[in-house]
Amino acid sequence: MSVTDLPKVELHLHIEGAAPPAFIRGLAKEKNIDLSGVFNEDGSYAFTDFWHFLKVYEAATEALKTPEDFGRLTTAVLQESAANGVIYTEAFISPDFCGGGDLGAWREYLHAIEEAARAAEVKDGIILKGIVTPVRHFGPENAKKSALCAAETVGGFITGLGMGGDEKFGQPGDFAYAYDMAREAGLRLTCHAGEWGGPDSIRACLDDLKVERIGHGVRAIEDPALVERLAKDGIVLEVCPGSNIALGVYSKWSDHPIEKLREYGVKVTISTDDPPFFHTTMKREYDRLAETFGYNADSFTEFNITAAHAAFCDADTRAALIKRLETANA
Ligand code: ADE
Ligand code: ZN
Repeated sequence: MSVTDLPKVELHLHIEGAAPPAFIRGLAKEKNIDLSGVFNEDGSYAFTDFWHFLKVYEAATEALKTPEDFGRLTTAVLQESAANGVIYTEAFISPDFCGGGDLGAWREYLHAIEEAARAAEVKDGIILKGIVTPVRHFGPENAKKSALCAAETVGGFITGLGMGGDEKFGQPGDFAYAYDMAREAGLRLTCHAGEWGGPDSIRACLDDLKVERIGHGVRAIEDPALVERLAKDGIVLEVCPGSNIALGVYSKWSDHPIEKLREYGVKVTISTDDPPFFHTTMKREYDRLAETFGYNADSFTEFNITAAHAAFCDADTRAALIKRLETANA
């Protein structure tokens, strides 16, 4: 069996970032929305660097207007994930794009997303959990609104809080109120860091937001003391190698620190981030990692079991995932 056929657990996927460009174009056409500048001539998303990527990303979300649009998006995204062998995925979902931070509207978007997720689970056996996502450069006040939406809807589907957006905007501590609210409501916590910021940015998330996972976190490799701390405390990194290469955090696959981090005992997992933006899929990530670092079925099963242990899900779901992963590699 090829490693790309293994069942996979993905912890870091942005729901809007996973929207196929043709899907967004279709919605924009239905609604007469002008998305000029969002696409290249070949139909792919057009951006030059991370900050331009954020702008294009936000422009593309203009086509996603209603709860029904997010329901259709969820169906399209999970179909693609299941086709890549993903059996469990956690999606970042932002109240900012789902009702503008209004709790009543957020509930309607969630209802549509959850309904689509239930249908995908019946059809393809894929499980989706939602991580509520404040967008860092929208500021701490918006993050509080997102955290309130998360706290009010925590339960079977919404299980975590995880901030994304521009890591250069403000300090993690500016968002402590939002994270405290989410923690008190019982949400599990992660935050993007160590992608555009260095080791101090990761440290601030651990110290000031008390997260148990870090989105990306790869630039920890620049600081041996931090690597040691991550390994000792069992902090899990949601590593998205293809995203890092596409955005220029590292210029080539062989420069990517995933293997060094693993060797130092850091818990690393594999995800795609925003797959159509970065011309990737979970199968492609596995392919490139196997080619670059010689990973085999045992290596990927280890990454997936680490991800299952770190997943923001209930104990029964976790046990079932681990069983499926072990059986597939028996
Ligand atoms: N939002 C979507 N993708 C992101 C990334 N790679 N970093 C930060 N925020 C994001
Ligand atoms: Zn991300």
